[in-house]
Amino acid sequence: MNVTDAVRERFSVRAYLDKPVNKDTVYKLLDIARFSPSGHNAQPWEVAVVTGKAKEQLSEKLIDAVNTKIERKYDYSYSTKDVPLFIKERKDACNIKVFKHKNINPKTDKEKLKEHILENFRCFGAPVCLIISRDKKLGEDAFVDIGLFAQTIMLTALEFGLATCPQTSIVAYAKLLHDELNIPDDKIIVMSLTLGYPDMNAHINKLRMDRDTVDKFTTFYE
Ligand SMILES: Cc1cc2nc3c(=O)[nH]c(=O)nc-3n(C[C@H](O)[C@H](O)[C@H](O)COP(=O)(O)O)c2cc1C
Repeated sequence: MNVTDAVRERFSVRAYLDKPVNKDTVYKLLDIARFSPSGHNAQPWEVAVVTGKAKEQLSEKLIDAVNTKIERKYDYSYSTKDVPLFIKERKDACNIKVFKHKNINPKTDKEKLKEHILENFRCFGAPVCLIISRDKKLGEDAFVDIGLFAQTIMLTALEFGLATCPQTSIVAYAKLLHDELNIPDDKIIVMSLTLGYPDMNAHINKLRMDRDTVDKFTTFYE
């Protein structure tokens, strides 16, 4: 698979086959992703690979946190609703597209909506959840490095026949993750990635999101 195909074929996979990913494969994937670029080669990524019983327990605790309305609190400042209009329009369009695809009316279908939200905390059935952290003492630049690292994992996963979905929904329960996974408080838990073999027959995996054209976000200076 060439790089263009990988970039164009990757999408956020939200349903997985009931098939484990063996530890060697996860290791190989990370062994490639470690060649991602980072500022001054700082390589600030720290990865918790959560599978098996540990993943089941974590999912249960997260679902419990959602059900009991435990406060969502990220380790970092997360975008509020007060974003520029052009961004808000894109975010709203994303939600509308997902809900339409899943035939959910978020205003009336309360049960379906809740189920939709909880799917995130089951990692959409993926057998592996990668939780990526960085040290608190680093500047905001380390978030850039984490993003690049995560994208390398997501693209490389395709070569292994694997799929991913980046998530920030899970890391909204940062304290729970720190406690459950013994991640020290001097780390910022940035994001997670689901990892598994995609269920390509699942309706949700037929969903593809739109992108703006190059002209919408580019200025050429000559
Ligand atoms: C940092 C980040 C966080 C995300 N968090 C979630 C999430 O919590 N749940 C989810 O279903 N999708 C999540 N997504 C997936 C985005 O919705 C998705 O990337 C976007 O709609 C574009 O679709 P695509 O990845 O299928 O191309 C996240 C993506 C990124 C990059």
